Amino acid sequence: MGSRKILGESSAVNELLKLIGKVAGAKTNVLVIGESGTGKELVARMIHESGPLKEKPFIPVNCGAIPETLIESEMFGHRRGSFTGAVNEKTGLFEAAHGGTLFLDEVGELPLSMQVKLLRAIQERSFRKVGGTEDIRVDVRIIAATNRDLEAAVAKGTFREDLYYRLNVILIKTPPLRERQGDIRLLAEQFLKRCAPRFKHCPTHFTPEAIAALEAHEWPGNIRELENVVERAVTLATTETITLDQLPQGIQAAGARAGGAPVTPSRRSTDVPGQSAGAGATLVLPPADFSKGALPLDQILADVEKMYLLAALEHSGGVKKKAADLLGITFRSIRYRLSKLGMEKEEDEK
Ligand SMILES: Nc1ncnc2c1ncn2[C@@H]1O[C@H](COP(=O)(O)OP(=O)(O)OP(=O)(O)O)[C@@H](O)[C@H]1O
Ligand SMILES: [Mg+2]
Repeated sequence: MGSRKILGESSAVNELLKLIGKVAGAKTNVLVIGESGTGKELVARMIHESGPLKEKPFIPVNCGAIPETLIESEMFGHRRGSFTGAVNEKTGLFEAAHGGTLFLDEVGELPLSMQVKLLRAIQERSFRKVGGTEDIRVDVRIIAATNRDLEAAVAKGTFREDLYYRLNVILIKTPPLRERQGDIRLLAEQFLKRCAPRFKHCPTHFTPEAIAALEAHEWPGNIRELENVVERAVTLATTETITLDQLPQGIQAAGARAGGAPVTPSRRSTDVPGQSAGAGATLVLPPADFSKGALPLDQILADVEKMYLLAALEHSGGVKKKAADLLGITFRSIRYRLSKLGMEKEEDEK
């Protein structure tokens, strides 16, 4: 994702780019807030890459995806033998980011105990490894991101106020896609171009009805949702043009409400051969018959899990918090499950 550019011509994007240019030069901490899929990580990378630390490391940490028991050792490292499983000495992410930028993604998910340790490391510019006795000095710029309302979390007592002010030296808000409707066409067309090298057959443009529907949709999952919609449409398209019926039903309906063409039944993305466990797909479980050989239980369970995760994500427009609620699991758990199934990573690397 390092080479990705922030695309858009709306005033919201111009303001964003101006602000990035201003803060990149200083080594101050930055807090990036915005809804899911609005480009917070892209902004963080761009700040790093446009500043004096660009040759130094940029280390992203997904605070929401690391199991609570492992966070401290991931962040600060550990001495050999400091706990069961600490077979080797480990360098933490803080130390790996020395001289560069540590990107604390989903910082609102950090448990309170870890917030205290993080604050101390930022204030004192030093930390100790788990089981260590010596102080290790580090010089890192912290860029943090969250889609949570951190001020509300501070008021509730789930996020430390002192840490909040340490991180929030400069605040950058990434605008939701519905507030930059003028960028939708440009983004959709760029994403089409990006798809081309990965597909044997890639359409080159959208029909006017398809564009109108894309522009009318609310985009709760923001730019990530738009990327996914374009990619699905590419897999369904058979000609040079992406038509309205190759877009998901919800988007066709938005187009119709906005005065476009009536909704026509569309094939679902999951009709694509090979996507057996996709959202809305019916999963065919192999019969529990061992006479023909072994049945890999882990694979079967992973397929079941994947099907429900995808369905919940589709229903929630790509908003992970909502998808987690639909499945009765925590946000931390959905992040963990997605990354375990390789789904989070795929998304994040896009
Ligand atoms: N302005 C933009 N121009 C082009 N692509 C963008 C832009 N903003 C975001 N993207 C793309 O959208 C996807 C989501 O962006 P990113 O991962 O930075 O969002 P995020 O705010 O960190 O989302 P989440 O809260 O879900 O982690 C990425 O693939 C990114 O490259
Ligand atoms: Mg992110």
